[in-house]
Amino acid sequence: MLRLKMLILLSIVVSSVFPCAASDDKRNFTEGFYFGVMPENFTWGVSTAAFQIEGAWNEDGKSESIWDRFSHEGGHIALNQTADVSCDSYHKWRDDITILKELGVKHYRFSLSWSRIVPDPTTGEVNQAGVNFYLNLITALKEAGIEPMVTLFHWDLPQILEDNGSWGNETIIQQYKHYADVAFSHFGYWVKYWLTFNEPWVVTWSGYGIGEYAPGIKQPATLPYLYAHTIIKCHAQAWHLYDTTYRPRFNGMVSITLNTDFFAPKNSSKPEDVEAAERAAQFSVGWFAHPIYVDGDYPQVMKDYVQRNTNSTDGSSRLPKFTDSEKLFIKGTFDYFGLNHYSTSLCEPADAAYQASVPKGYLGDMEVKLTRDPKWQKSSSSYLYYVPWGMRGILNFIRTNYNNTPVIVTENGVTDRNGTLLDFFRIQYIRAYINELTKAALIDNCNVIGYTVWSIMDNFEWTSGYTQKFGLYYVDFDNPQRPRVAKQSGTWYKGVIADHGFPDPMFPPKDDLRRTT
Ligand code: BGC
Repeated sequence: MLRLKMLILLSIVVSSVFPCAASDDKRNFTEGFYFGVMPENFTWGVSTAAFQIEGAWNEDGKSESIWDRFSHEGGHIALNQTADVSCDSYHKWRDDITILKELGVKHYRFSLSWSRIVPDPTTGEVNQAGVNFYLNLITALKEAGIEPMVTLFHWDLPQILEDNGSWGNETIIQQYKHYADVAFSHFGYWVKYWLTFNEPWVVTWSGYGIGEYAPGIKQPATLPYLYAHTIIKCHAQAWHLYDTTYRPRFNGMVSITLNTDFFAPKNSSKPEDVEAAERAAQFSVGWFAHPIYVDGDYPQVMKDYVQRNTNSTDGSSRLPKFTDSEKLFIKGTFDYFGLNHYSTSLCEPADAAYQASVPKGYLGDMEVKLTRDPKWQKSSSSYLYYVPWGMRGILNFIRTNYNNTPVIVTENGVTDRNGTLLDFFRIQYIRAYINELTKAALIDNCNVIGYTVWSIMDNFEWTSGYTQKFGLYYVDFDNPQRPRVAKQSGTWYKGVIADHGFPDPMFPPKDDLRRTT
């Protein structure tokens, strides 16, 4: 009898520790909610960006950025709003620290404003007031026991550089390297996580392809490819600079943050849809990740498809080529993988009608028809559908394509549905996405080492201004004090951080990571 009891107990323990032992099909087994606590070193955080929260757009020597110009021009942003004050974090950064502590995050991801630190990159002169602002913030974070995770470039290019030929003028590579050098030398002692660029796909495609984002240029056939080429070289320069000059002293990690949907075949039993999904992923995340994480060059399928859509008589392509020495220089310029993930797209080969409907260039070159399942729940952001299993899908894509490089999810989150502090849809979204991440880590062995919610507080959501709110905290933009007030999701996320994931109430972990209440 005792033996029988022991056996039953053992089988329960085994199936909870090795949940897929009972089934070959891991996905079926884990369709529902999955209890699991993340490994000890897993880091939880929240994210912001300089332009979206700082305000003080022309204070203390800061120069104009392309987003200052774009928003002041009028006609580009919802209700013609600007980020001139926004959350006023330039003055109220202590309030930010207060709520970060309240949440109990282990890291805080924010970006530096290039125009605040080096207002005129053509002279390279450093603005000490800008440096001091970030020194105060960074040292206060360290005192609070919060790791700063610093993005060097989150879209706010100094306008002077845009006027100087933008990413098409290769002198920007040395100017960017100088800016990185200023940041590494001033802040490197405290900062262990660096990101060179946030979402170069958005910078190039939304800014210079369809022109929806600053600086509003529409050259979809050429500029995204040309400018991405320069950005990849800038990234590699910054990584090598850190690697040779700063790593021996500071021993931090430098990477790039790439945004990507999960690309799923519309019909997974159709090989052409499976192929289309693979092609879309290579054109999207692979555009930047393949050179950096694989072999210094663009994915072969991207080279083939851009070439054949260039239709040139001399075999040239709109996709630029790296030289052999550039490939060697770019390959391996990472210490981890920064991933921004929000949603999923369905893929099938593009038909003629679809091709005619998309701008000629990057989107047409990939020859994939991208759609969303009408059954998926929408959010108030047009691009953002609620598809939690995509998180597990994209983490597995990175595991298999990029050699299971350690991944930090540097952004994930969703817009308010009802505009009240009771933001249950955000809780539903984040809970489900973290849970899929948990499955990816604990069942599929994806090497995911951190997760970051976008965003800690409502802020300037680019062309949507303040009409779309991503915050765990509400900010009243009509109140000069800009008070930060926790939404229900903030309180909930605090619990997840304290629990280090989702401990199984029936089998609590032995070490006491759990809340006591
Ligand atoms: C960007 C953020 C933005 C968020 C929500 C990301 O693509 O990095 O700056 O606010 O998405 O749309």
